[in-house]
Amino acid sequence: MKLLLILVVASVGFAIADDDAEEKVWTEDEVEALKASVTSDVYATVPELIAQNGYTAEIHYVTTEDGYILQMHRIPATPTSPASDDKPVVLLMHALLGSAADWVIMGPEKGFAYILADAGYDVWLGNARGTKYSRNHTTLTDFTGPDFWYFDWHEIGYYDQPAMIDYALEVTGQEKVIFIGHSQGTTTFYVMASLRPEYNDKIKVMFSLAPIAYVSHCKSVLLQFVDQFEYGLSHLLKLIGAYEFLPNGSFLTKIGSVYCNEDALTRYLCSNVLFLITGFDISNLNQTMLSAIFGHTPAGASTRQILHYAQLIRSGKFGYYDQDWISNLFNYGSIEAPDYNLTAVTAPVHVFYSTNDYFSAVEDVEKHYTELGNPIEMYRVPYKKWNHVDYLWGITAKEFVYDPVISRIKANYSD
Ligand SMILES: *[C@@H]1O[C@H](CO)[C@@H](O)[C@H](O)[C@H]1NC(C)=O
Ligand SMILES: *[C@@H]1O[C@H](CO)[C@@H](O)[C@H](O)[C@H]1NC(C)=O
Ligand SMILES: *[C@@H]1O[C@H](CO)[C@@H](O)[C@H](O)[C@H]1NC(C)=O
Ligand SMILES: *[C@@H]1O[C@H](CO)[C@@H](O)[C@H](O)[C@H]1NC(C)=O
Repeated sequence: MKLLLILVVASVGFAIADDDAEEKVWTEDEVEALKASVTSDVYATVPELIAQNGYTAEIHYVTTEDGYILQMHRIPATPTSPASDDKPVVLLMHALLGSAADWVIMGPEKGFAYILADAGYDVWLGNARGTKYSRNHTTLTDFTGPDFWYFDWHEIGYYDQPAMIDYALEVTGQEKVIFIGHSQGTTTFYVMASLRPEYNDKIKVMFSLAPIAYVSHCKSVLLQFVDQFEYGLSHLLKLIGAYEFLPNGSFLTKIGSVYCNEDALTRYLCSNVLFLITGFDISNLNQTMLSAIFGHTPAGASTRQILHYAQLIRSGKFGYYDQDWISNLFNYGSIEAPDYNLTAVTAPVHVFYSTNDYFSAVEDVEKHYTELGNPIEMYRVPYKKWNHVDYLWGITAKEFVYDPVISRIKANYSD
């Protein structure tokens, strides 16, 4: 245990050393004032937020082959751009513990969903099974128990992702979507595109923002902790939840007090499990927006999603959920859990990555890129401290990511 602590502290220390020396130190009082600045936006749903800003918001229900009922959100029209049949469909897929809210909580002119809608796209926002918008099922009625939560991002990729694409194409009468995934939203895309290769034909282009396939270089504090856990799985599950991922508050505080002792603001960030997974660097975060972020995130995930990623840190593979060898043999037909085949992902993929991302490390991004069936570009975000959540909430996200994505679509993927 001691060894682990030293290792992780060393890696966190390394990343923090990159900060500007003159960065502000937050006091408890200032953080309390920040928490008190919570506005009603924090409690609004995604369609409510979209409508409040004068955009058209639609709610759609999509049923998967295995019975999960998912909510999708759609922005078909904006104050300046009316709905029309020929707007290209863009599907945005969120990260682990995220939801459709990830793309809208920054508001118009800042959130990617609004920027795409303003640019003339028909914007569809996915919500994976288990997020607060997608807790429903055709036959299951207990949304807290083992049956509902028996899935990880494999099932989100295999079932939810194709169902969302088919649904959006059917409603709009179009043939292909432009897919933009962030973090786990890229993992689920790769699972789908490798296991159901026919879906590659339904993708005009994929933008992988902070892609996650291989994770052996990931510096995520919580995932490393889960991976190294030495008291056995059942004790771990008591701390983080056996079905839904609901880490015990005192457990989080304990981890946070070891890794996040910089100042009151970092302690506050570390009280949110999302930041314990992704890491953070507040230089590009608008601190006024923290209450909005905390109001919508974490939006829900299964413990198996976390365990599956943690397994891959150790195995160095991008593979199926590893069960005991008998179950592997029974379920997968081999003693070892099989790998996903990235070469079977034949849709064109643009990868956006950065050098200060705890979760999506450069070595892992490069490795997955060379295996993809149709890799187009590795775009390194030109900002040294760019981190995993800056793709959603970075003050300069429009300049460094959204505008470059849209210019690529307009130049190369507009028929
Ligand atoms: C769950 O789905 C059923 C069938 O579509 C629907 O009638 C019900 O309102 C949904 N429940 C929630 C909480 O969304
Ligand atoms: C959280 O964990 C602590 C010990 O680490 C335990 O005493 C407490 O009962 C747990 N709380 C819940 C809600 O499980
Ligand atoms: C931070 O967010 C607040 C509230 O939305 C906004 O007024 C301000 O302009 C933002 N600051 C920056 C640097 O984007
Ligand atoms: C992976 O997919 C590619 C392209 O479909 C195929 O040629 C190759 O044989 C597959 N590799 C494995 C190990 O299945």
